[in-house]
Amino acid sequence: MKITIFGSGYVGLVTGACLAEVGHEVMCVDVDADKVARLSQGDIPIYEPGLETLIHHNLEAGRLHFTDDAKAAVDFGLLQFIAVGTPSDEDGSADLSHVLKVAETIATHMTDYRIIVDKSTVPVGTASKVARTVATTLAERNANLDFDVCSNPEFLKEGAAIEDFSRGARIVIGTDSERVRGVMRECYGPYNRQRDKLMFMGVRSAELTKYAANAMLATKISFINEIANLAERLGADIEEVRHGIGSDPRIGYHFIYPGCGYGGSCFPKDVKALAHTAKAAGYPAEMIHAVERVNERQKNRLFEMLCQAFNGELAGKTIALWGLAFKPETDDMREAPSRALMEALWAAGARVQAHDPEAAEECRRLYGERDDLTLTDQRDAALEGAHALVICTEWKAFRTVDFDDLRERLLEPVIVDGRNLFSPHSAQQAGLTYYAIGRGA
Ligand code: UGA
Repeated sequence: MKITIFGSGYVGLVTGACLAEVGHEVMCVDVDADKVARLSQGDIPIYEPGLETLIHHNLEAGRLHFTDDAKAAVDFGLLQFIAVGTPSDEDGSADLSHVLKVAETIATHMTDYRIIVDKSTVPVGTASKVARTVATTLAERNANLDFDVCSNPEFLKEGAAIEDFSRGARIVIGTDSERVRGVMRECYGPYNRQRDKLMFMGVRSAELTKYAANAMLATKISFINEIANLAERLGADIEEVRHGIGSDPRIGYHFIYPGCGYGGSCFPKDVKALAHTAKAAGYPAEMIHAVERVNERQKNRLFEMLCQAFNGELAGKTIALWGLAFKPETDDMREAPSRALMEALWAAGARVQAHDPEAAEECRRLYGERDDLTLTDQRDAALEGAHALVICTEWKAFRTVDFDDLRERLLEPVIVDGRNLFSPHSAQQAGLTYYAIGRGA
Protein backbone atom coordinates (compact mmCIF):
# COMPACT_ATOMS: atom_id res chain seq x y z
CA MET A 1 0.00 0.00 0.00
CA LYS A 2 1.23 3.53 -0.79
CA ILE A 3 1.46 5.94 2.10
CA THR A 4 2.47 9.60 2.28
CA ILE A 5 3.70 11.20 5.47
CA PHE A 6 3.91 14.97 5.85
CA GLY A 7 6.58 16.05 8.32
CA SER A 8 9.93 14.26 8.74
CA GLY A 9 10.31 15.04 12.41
CA TYR A 10 10.33 12.52 15.17
CA VAL A 11 6.83 11.09 14.71
CA GLY A 12 6.90 11.24 10.91
CA LEU A 13 10.22 9.42 10.64
CA VAL A 14 9.31 6.68 13.10
CA THR A 15 5.90 6.15 11.47
CA GLY A 16 7.40 6.17 7.97
CA ALA A 17 10.22 3.79 8.80
CA CYS A 18 7.99 1.36 10.69
CA LEU A 19 5.33 1.27 7.97
CA ALA A 20 7.98 0.75 5.27
CA GLU A 21 9.54 -2.04 7.32
CA VAL A 22 6.39 -4.17 6.98
CA GLY A 23 6.29 -3.74 3.21
CA HIS A 24 4.34 -0.56 2.56
CA GLU A 25 5.71 1.99 0.11
CA VAL A 26 6.22 5.19 2.02
CA MET A 27 6.97 8.71 0.85
CA CYS A 28 8.00 11.18 3.54
CA VAL A 29 7.64 14.82 2.59
CA ASP A 30 9.12 17.82 4.34
CA VAL A 31 9.38 21.51 3.43
CA ASP A 32 13.03 21.59 4.51
CA ALA A 33 14.91 20.68 1.30
CA ASP A 34 18.20 20.39 3.13
CA LYS A 35 16.74 17.89 5.60
CA VAL A 36 15.20 15.91 2.74
CA ALA A 37 18.57 15.73 0.96
CA ARG A 38 20.28 14.52 4.13
CA LEU A 39 17.58 11.99 4.93
CA SER A 40 17.75 10.60 1.37
CA GLN A 41 21.45 9.92 2.05
CA GLY A 42 20.52 8.14 5.26
CA ASP A 43 21.69 11.00 7.50
CA ILE A 44 19.20 11.02 10.40
CA PRO A 45 18.86 14.31 12.32
CA ILE A 46 17.65 12.81 15.61
CA TYR A 47 18.92 10.12 17.93
CA GLU A 48 16.43 7.31 18.45
CA PRO A 49 17.60 3.75 19.09
CA GLY A 50 17.08 1.55 16.03
CA LEU A 51 15.72 4.30 13.79
CA GLU A 52 18.82 4.80 11.69
CA THR A 53 19.13 1.09 10.91
CA LEU A 54 15.46 0.91 9.99
CA ILE A 55 15.66 3.93 7.70
CA HIS A 56 18.84 2.67 5.98
CA HIS A 57 17.30 -0.74 5.47
CA ASN A 58 14.16 0.65 3.87
CA LEU A 59 15.98 3.25 1.79
CA GLU A 60 18.08 0.43 0.35
CA ALA A 61 15.01 -1.73 -0.20
CA GLY A 62 13.47 1.18 -2.15
CA ARG A 63 10.35 1.27 0.03
CA LEU A 64 11.12 4.58 1.72
CA HIS A 65 11.49 7.86 -0.14
CA PHE A 66 12.07 11.43 0.98
CA THR A 67 10.93 14.44 -1.00
CA ASP A 68 10.12 18.13 -0.73
CA ASP A 69 7.81 17.89 -3.75
CA ALA A 70 4.36 18.24 -2.24
CA LYS A 71 2.50 17.48 -5.45
CA ALA A 72 4.37 14.21 -5.96
CA ALA A 73 3.66 13.35 -2.32
CA VAL A 74 -0.08 14.00 -2.60
CA ASP A 75 -0.21 11.93 -5.80
CA PHE A 76 1.62 9.10 -4.07
CA GLY A 77 -0.43 7.80 -1.16
CA LEU A 78 -4.07 6.99 -0.65
CA LEU A 79 -3.30 7.65 3.01
CA GLN A 80 -1.89 11.11 3.72
CA PHE A 81 -0.54 11.24 7.26
CA ILE A 82 -0.06 14.64 8.88
CA ALA A 83 2.84 14.40 11.33
CA VAL A 84 3.99 17.99 11.63
CA GLY A 85 4.64 19.94 14.81
CA THR A 86 1.98 21.47 17.02
CA PRO A 87 3.98 23.80 19.28
CA SER A 88 2.41 25.61 22.21
CA ASP A 89 1.08 29.07 21.46
CA GLU A 90 1.77 31.72 24.08
CA ASP A 91 -1.53 30.99 25.81
CA GLY A 92 -0.75 27.26 26.00
CA SER A 93 -3.08 26.25 23.17
CA ALA A 94 -1.70 24.08 20.37
CA ASP A 95 -0.59 26.03 17.31
CA LEU A 96 -2.32 24.35 14.37
CA SER A 97 -0.88 26.48 11.59
CA HIS A 98 1.46 23.72 10.30
CA VAL A 99 -1.29 21.10 10.38
CA LEU A 100 -3.76 23.30 8.51
CA LYS A 101 -1.10 24.31 6.00
CA VAL A 102 -0.57 20.64 5.16
CA ALA A 103 -4.35 20.17 4.82
CA GLU A 104 -4.38 23.05 2.35
CA THR A 105 -1.43 21.58 0.44
CA ILE A 106 -3.15 18.20 0.15
CA ALA A 107 -6.35 19.85 -1.10
CA THR A 108 -4.40 21.99 -3.58
CA HIS A 109 -2.79 18.99 -5.27
CA MET A 110 -5.20 16.08 -4.88
CA THR A 111 -6.80 14.70 -8.01
CA ASP A 112 -8.53 11.70 -6.46
CA TYR A 113 -9.99 10.41 -3.17
CA ARG A 114 -7.60 10.75 -0.25
CA ILE A 115 -7.74 9.80 3.41
CA ILE A 116 -6.09 12.42 5.60
CA VAL A 117 -4.81 11.01 8.88
CA ASP A 118 -4.11 13.33 11.80
CA LYS A 119 -1.07 11.77 13.48
CA SER A 120 0.17 14.97 15.13
CA THR A 121 -1.10 15.56 18.64
CA VAL A 122 -3.97 17.91 17.99
CA PRO A 123 -6.78 19.29 20.15
CA VAL A 124 -10.29 17.94 20.01
CA GLY A 125 -12.03 19.43 16.99
CA THR A 126 -8.94 19.55 14.76
CA ALA A 127 -10.16 16.86 12.37
CA SER A 128 -13.21 19.06 11.70
CA LYS A 129 -10.93 22.05 11.07
CA VAL A 130 -8.78 19.99 8.72
CA ALA A 131 -11.91 18.85 6.87
CA ARG A 132 -13.14 22.44 6.57
CA THR A 133 -9.77 23.61 5.26
CA VAL A 134 -9.69 20.83 2.67
CA ALA A 135 -13.30 21.50 1.61
CA THR A 136 -12.67 25.26 1.27
CA THR A 137 -9.51 24.77 -0.78
CA LEU A 138 -11.21 22.21 -3.02
CA ALA A 139 -14.14 24.61 -3.51
CA GLU A 140 -11.72 27.38 -4.52
CA ARG A 141 -10.32 25.01 -7.14
CA ASN A 142 -13.84 24.05 -8.23
CA ALA A 143 -12.71 20.48 -7.62
CA ASN A 144 -15.45 18.06 -6.69
CA LEU A 145 -13.36 15.42 -4.95
CA ASP A 146 -14.17 13.08 -2.13
CA PHE A 147 -11.98 12.80 0.98
CA ASP A 148 -12.07 11.66 4.61
CA VAL A 149 -10.23 12.87 7.68
CA CYS A 150 -9.48 10.52 10.55
CA SER A 151 -7.62 10.78 13.82
CA ASN A 152 -4.83 8.32 14.61
CA PRO A 153 -2.89 9.63 17.60
CA GLU A 154 0.54 8.22 18.39
CA PHE A 155 1.63 6.82 21.72
CA LEU A 156 5.38 6.61 21.15
CA LYS A 157 7.89 7.18 23.89
CA GLU A 158 11.16 8.75 22.88
CA GLY A 159 13.93 6.22 23.27
CA ALA A 160 11.52 3.32 22.75
CA ALA A 161 9.61 4.58 19.74
CA ILE A 162 10.20 1.66 17.39
CA GLU A 163 9.23 -0.83 20.07
CA ASP A 164 6.12 1.22 20.93
CA PHE A 165 5.09 1.44 17.28
CA SER A 166 5.61 -2.28 16.70
CA ARG A 167 4.27 -3.62 19.98
CA GLY A 168 2.15 -0.79 21.38
CA ALA A 169 -0.82 -1.41 23.64
CA ARG A 170 -3.35 -0.05 21.16
CA ILE A 171 -3.87 1.59 17.80
CA VAL A 172 -6.54 4.25 18.15
CA ILE A 173 -8.45 5.33 15.06
CA GLY A 174 -11.18 7.94 15.15
CA THR A 175 -13.50 7.77 12.19
CA ASP A 176 -17.15 7.20 11.33
CA SER A 177 -16.39 5.95 7.82
CA GLU A 178 -16.50 2.26 6.93
CA ARG A 179 -14.16 2.89 4.01
CA VAL A 180 -11.55 4.48 6.28
CA ARG A 181 -11.83 1.61 8.74
CA GLY A 182 -11.01 -0.85 5.96
CA VAL A 183 -7.98 1.09 4.69
CA MET A 184 -6.59 1.67 8.18
CA ARG A 185 -7.03 -2.03 8.96
CA GLU A 186 -4.90 -2.82 5.92
CA CYS A 187 -2.32 -0.18 6.80
CA TYR A 188 -1.80 -1.49 10.34
CA GLY A 189 -2.52 -5.15 9.51
CA PRO A 190 1.12 -6.26 9.83
CA TYR A 191 1.26 -4.76 13.34
CA ASN A 192 -2.04 -6.24 14.36
CA ARG A 193 -1.44 -9.97 14.04
CA GLN A 194 -1.20 -11.36 17.57
CA ARG A 195 -4.31 -9.71 18.96
CA ASP A 196 -6.65 -7.05 17.66
CA LYS A 197 -5.20 -3.76 18.89
CA LEU A 198 -7.23 -1.58 16.59
CA MET A 199 -9.68 0.57 18.50
CA PHE A 200 -12.16 2.35 16.31
CA MET A 201 -14.03 5.21 17.90
CA GLY A 202 -15.47 8.62 17.18
CA VAL A 203 -13.05 11.24 15.88
CA ARG A 204 -13.40 13.48 18.93
CA SER A 205 -12.95 10.56 21.32
CA ALA A 206 -9.73 9.59 19.55
CA GLU A 207 -8.45 13.15 19.78
CA LEU A 208 -9.28 13.34 23.49
CA THR A 209 -7.82 9.87 24.16
CA LYS A 210 -4.36 11.17 23.29
CA TYR A 211 -4.57 14.10 25.70
CA ALA A 212 -6.26 12.07 28.42
CA ALA A 213 -3.49 9.43 28.23
CA ASN A 214 -0.68 11.97 28.54
CA ALA A 215 -2.47 13.98 31.22
CA MET A 216 -3.11 10.80 33.22
CA LEU A 217 0.57 9.82 33.04
CA ALA A 218 1.68 13.35 33.94
CA THR A 219 -0.77 13.23 36.85
CA LYS A 220 0.83 10.06 38.17
CA ILE A 221 4.24 11.73 38.07
CA SER A 222 3.10 14.95 39.74
CA PHE A 223 1.21 12.91 42.31
CA ILE A 224 4.22 10.85 43.32
CA ASN A 225 6.39 13.97 43.37
CA GLU A 226 3.91 15.65 45.67
CA ILE A 227 3.94 12.65 48.00
CA ALA A 228 7.76 12.60 47.80
CA ASN A 229 7.95 16.20 48.97
CA LEU A 230 5.59 15.33 51.76
CA ALA A 231 7.62 12.21 52.65
CA GLU A 232 10.69 14.40 53.15
CA ARG A 233 8.85 16.53 55.65
CA LEU A 234 7.34 13.55 57.43
CA GLY A 235 10.50 11.48 57.71
CA ALA A 236 9.25 8.78 55.33
CA ASP A 237 11.15 7.32 52.37
CA ILE A 238 9.31 7.69 49.06
CA GLU A 239 11.05 4.63 47.60
CA GLU A 240 9.48 2.49 50.30
CA VAL A 241 6.15 4.22 49.81
CA ARG A 242 6.41 3.69 46.04
CA HIS A 243 6.87 -0.05 46.55
CA GLY A 244 4.06 -0.05 49.03
CA ILE A 245 1.50 1.57 46.78
CA GLY A 246 2.69 0.05 43.48
CA SER A 247 2.00 -3.46 44.75
CA ASP A 248 -1.71 -2.72 44.54
CA PRO A 249 -2.59 -3.67 40.95
CA ARG A 250 -5.11 -0.87 40.84
CA ILE A 251 -2.19 1.54 41.23
CA GLY A 252 0.69 -0.41 39.64
CA TYR A 253 4.40 0.33 39.48
CA HIS A 254 4.49 2.16 36.17
CA PHE A 255 5.03 5.88 36.03
CA ILE A 256 5.26 6.48 39.73
CA TYR A 257 8.97 7.17 39.83
CA PRO A 258 9.60 10.37 41.73
CA GLY A 259 12.12 12.71 40.18
CA CYS A 260 13.00 16.25 39.23
CA GLY A 261 9.84 16.74 37.17
CA TYR A 262 8.64 15.57 33.77
CA GLY A 263 10.02 17.19 30.65
CA GLY A 264 10.05 16.45 26.95
CA SER A 265 8.05 17.58 24.00
CA CYS A 266 4.80 15.94 25.05
CA PHE A 267 3.69 16.08 28.67
CA PRO A 268 4.38 19.77 29.33
CA LYS A 269 2.83 20.82 26.02
CA ASP A 270 -0.13 18.46 26.14
CA VAL A 271 -1.04 19.21 29.75
CA LYS A 272 -1.06 22.93 28.92
CA ALA A 273 -3.10 22.36 25.77
CA LEU A 274 -5.67 20.23 27.62
CA ALA A 275 -6.04 22.92 30.28
CA HIS A 276 -6.60 25.40 27.51
CA THR A 277 -9.16 23.17 25.76
CA ALA A 278 -11.01 22.73 29.07
CA LYS A 279 -11.08 26.46 29.65
CA ALA A 280 -12.35 27.10 26.14
CA ALA A 281 -15.08 24.52 26.79
CA GLY A 282 -16.12 26.49 29.87
CA TYR A 283 -14.81 23.87 32.29
CA PRO A 284 -12.08 24.88 34.75
CA ALA A 285 -9.91 21.74 34.85
CA GLU A 286 -8.60 21.99 38.42
CA MET A 287 -6.53 18.83 38.39
CA ILE A 288 -4.78 19.52 35.13
CA HIS A 289 -3.65 22.92 36.38
CA ALA A 290 -2.41 21.38 39.62
CA VAL A 291 -0.42 18.75 37.70
CA GLU A 292 1.36 21.51 35.84
CA ARG A 293 1.99 23.65 38.92
CA VAL A 294 3.42 20.72 40.89
CA ASN A 295 5.74 19.94 37.98
CA GLU A 296 7.00 23.50 37.71
CA ARG A 297 7.78 23.45 41.40
CA GLN A 298 9.45 20.05 41.12
CA LYS A 299 11.81 21.23 38.41
CA ASN A 300 13.15 23.72 40.93
CA ARG A 301 13.83 21.12 43.63
CA LEU A 302 17.42 20.37 42.63
CA PHE A 303 18.34 24.03 42.78
CA GLU A 304 16.67 24.33 46.19
CA MET A 305 18.68 21.38 47.45
CA LEU A 306 21.92 22.94 46.23
CA CYS A 307 20.96 26.19 47.96
CA GLN A 308 20.39 24.21 51.12
CA ALA A 309 23.73 22.42 50.79
CA PHE A 310 25.67 25.66 50.26
CA ASN A 311 23.59 27.98 52.45
CA GLY A 312 22.43 29.85 49.39
CA GLU A 313 26.00 30.74 48.41
CA LEU A 314 26.31 29.40 44.91
CA ALA A 315 28.11 32.31 43.27
CA GLY A 316 31.53 31.18 42.07
CA LYS A 317 30.77 27.50 42.70
CA THR A 318 31.22 24.88 39.97
CA ILE A 319 28.45 22.31 39.78
CA ALA A 320 28.93 19.00 37.96
CA LEU A 321 25.81 17.86 36.17
CA TRP A 322 25.23 14.35 34.91
CA GLY A 323 22.43 14.16 32.36
CA LEU A 324 21.06 16.92 30.17
CA ALA A 325 18.42 15.05 28.17
CA PHE A 326 14.89 15.03 29.60
CA LYS A 327 15.21 11.26 29.94
CA PRO A 328 17.70 8.54 28.95
CA GLU A 329 18.15 7.22 25.40
CA THR A 330 17.44 10.53 23.74
CA ASP A 331 19.31 13.73 22.95
CA ASP A 332 16.13 15.76 23.43
CA MET A 333 16.39 18.61 25.92
CA ARG A 334 12.97 20.15 25.40
CA GLU A 335 11.59 21.24 28.80
CA ALA A 336 14.29 19.14 30.45
CA PRO A 337 14.71 19.61 34.22
CA SER A 338 18.45 20.10 33.54
CA ARG A 339 17.61 23.36 31.79
CA ALA A 340 15.68 24.81 34.72
CA LEU A 341 18.61 23.87 36.95
CA MET A 342 21.34 25.28 34.72
CA GLU A 343 19.48 28.52 34.18
CA ALA A 344 18.92 28.94 37.93
CA LEU A 345 22.60 28.19 38.61
CA TRP A 346 23.79 30.71 36.05
CA ALA A 347 21.45 33.33 37.48
CA ALA A 348 23.01 32.62 40.89
CA GLY A 349 26.52 33.08 39.48
CA ALA A 350 27.55 29.40 39.46
CA ARG A 351 29.35 27.50 36.71
CA VAL A 352 28.11 24.24 35.22
CA GLN A 353 30.27 21.32 34.09
CA ALA A 354 27.96 18.89 32.36
CA HIS A 355 28.14 15.47 30.80
CA ASP A 356 25.46 13.66 28.81
CA PRO A 357 26.05 10.58 26.64
CA GLU A 358 23.97 12.03 23.77
CA ALA A 359 22.77 15.57 24.38
CA ALA A 360 26.00 17.63 24.43
CA GLU A 361 25.53 18.83 20.87
CA GLU A 362 21.93 19.80 21.56
CA CYS A 363 23.08 21.70 24.65
CA ARG A 364 25.63 23.60 22.57
CA ARG A 365 22.94 24.42 20.04
CA LEU A 366 20.65 25.74 22.78
CA TYR A 367 23.11 27.72 24.84
CA GLY A 368 26.10 28.34 22.56
CA GLU A 369 29.55 28.99 23.93
CA ARG A 370 29.52 30.56 27.37
CA ASP A 371 32.07 30.93 30.15
CA ASP A 372 29.85 29.37 32.78
CA LEU A 373 29.23 26.14 30.85
CA THR A 374 31.70 23.34 30.10
CA LEU A 375 30.59 20.15 28.38
CA THR A 376 32.69 17.07 28.97
CA ASP A 377 32.93 13.84 26.98
CA GLN A 378 33.41 11.68 30.06
CA ARG A 379 31.22 11.66 33.15
CA ASP A 380 34.22 11.83 35.51
CA ALA A 381 35.73 14.83 33.72
CA ALA A 382 32.64 16.80 34.78
CA LEU A 383 33.65 16.24 38.41
CA GLU A 384 37.08 17.87 38.15
CA GLY A 385 37.12 21.01 40.28
CA ALA A 386 33.37 20.72 40.98
CA HIS A 387 31.87 21.53 44.37
CA ALA A 388 28.91 19.18 43.99
CA LEU A 389 27.41 16.63 41.64
CA VAL A 390 23.79 16.77 40.46
CA ILE A 391 22.14 13.92 38.59
CA CYS A 392 19.33 15.03 36.28
CA THR A 393 18.90 12.02 33.98
CA GLU A 394 19.00 8.34 34.90
CA TRP A 395 21.30 7.15 32.08
CA LYS A 396 22.52 3.60 32.74
CA ALA A 397 26.12 4.87 32.72
CA PHE A 398 25.41 6.85 35.91
CA ARG A 399 23.99 3.98 37.92
CA THR A 400 27.30 2.53 39.00
CA VAL A 401 29.58 4.77 41.01
CA ASP A 402 32.38 4.39 43.48
CA PHE A 403 31.39 6.69 46.36
CA ASP A 404 34.96 6.94 47.66
CA ASP A 405 36.18 8.00 44.26
CA LEU A 406 33.36 10.56 43.99
CA ARG A 407 34.16 12.00 47.40
CA GLU A 408 37.80 12.37 46.47
CA ARG A 409 37.11 14.04 43.15
CA LEU A 410 34.55 16.58 44.41
CA LEU A 411 35.69 19.70 46.25
CA GLU A 412 32.75 19.25 48.63
CA PRO A 413 31.18 15.84 49.22
CA VAL A 414 27.71 16.84 47.98
CA ILE A 415 25.51 14.78 45.68
CA VAL A 416 22.06 15.92 44.62
CA ASP A 417 20.33 12.97 43.00
CA GLY A 418 17.23 13.96 41.02
CA ARG A 419 16.49 10.35 40.04
CA ASN A 420 17.00 8.39 43.28
CA LEU A 421 19.69 6.16 41.83
CA PHE A 422 21.54 5.33 45.05
CA SER A 423 20.99 4.17 48.57
CA PRO A 424 21.09 7.18 50.91
CA HIS A 425 22.53 4.94 53.59
CA SER A 426 25.50 3.80 51.48
CA ALA A 427 26.17 7.33 50.25
CA GLN A 428 26.13 8.69 53.77
CA GLN A 429 28.32 5.86 55.04
CA ALA A 430 30.89 6.86 52.45
CA GLY A 431 30.95 10.34 53.91
CA LEU A 432 28.83 12.00 51.25
CA THR A 433 26.07 14.51 51.86
CA TYR A 434 23.41 12.92 49.72
CA TYR A 435 20.20 14.67 48.71
CA ALA A 436 17.54 12.70 46.86
CA ILE A 437 13.85 13.11 46.07
CA GLY A 438 11.54 12.27 48.94
CA ARG A 439 14.15 10.51 51.04
CA GLY A 440 15.26 13.14 53.51
CA ALA A 441 18.64 14.87 53.46
C1 UGA B 1 5.24 10.47 26.46
C2 UGA B 1 4.30 9.27 26.69
O1 UGA B 1 4.88 8.38 27.63
C3 UGA B 1 4.01 8.55 25.38
O2 UGA B 1 3.06 7.50 25.61
C4 UGA B 1 3.43 9.56 24.38
O3 UGA B 1 3.16 8.96 23.13
C5 UGA B 1 4.42 10.68 24.19
O4 UGA B 1 4.67 11.32 25.45
C6 UGA B 1 3.85 11.66 23.20
O5 UGA B 1 2.82 12.28 23.48
O6 UGA B 1 4.36 11.74 22.07
P1 UGA B 1 7.89 10.80 26.21
O7 UGA B 1 7.63 12.26 26.35
O8 UGA B 1 8.77 10.34 25.12
O9 UGA B 1 6.50 9.99 26.02
O10 UGA B 1 8.58 10.32 27.55
P2 UGA B 1 8.21 9.53 28.88
O11 UGA B 1 9.01 8.28 28.93
O12 UGA B 1 6.76 9.39 29.04
O13 UGA B 1 8.79 10.51 29.98
C7 UGA B 1 8.30 11.84 30.14
C8 UGA B 1 8.92 12.49 31.33
O14 UGA B 1 8.37 11.96 32.54
C9 UGA B 1 10.42 12.33 31.47
O15 UGA B 1 10.99 13.58 31.81
C10 UGA B 1 10.60 11.32 32.57
O16 UGA B 1 11.80 11.48 33.27
C11 UGA B 1 9.39 11.63 33.44
N1 UGA B 1 8.96 10.50 34.27
C12 UGA B 1 8.44 9.38 33.69
C13 UGA B 1 9.05 10.57 35.66
O17 UGA B 1 9.51 11.58 36.21
N2 UGA B 1 8.59 9.51 36.41
C14 UGA B 1 8.07 8.40 35.85
O18 UGA B 1 7.67 7.49 36.61
C15 UGA B 1 8.00 8.33 34.46
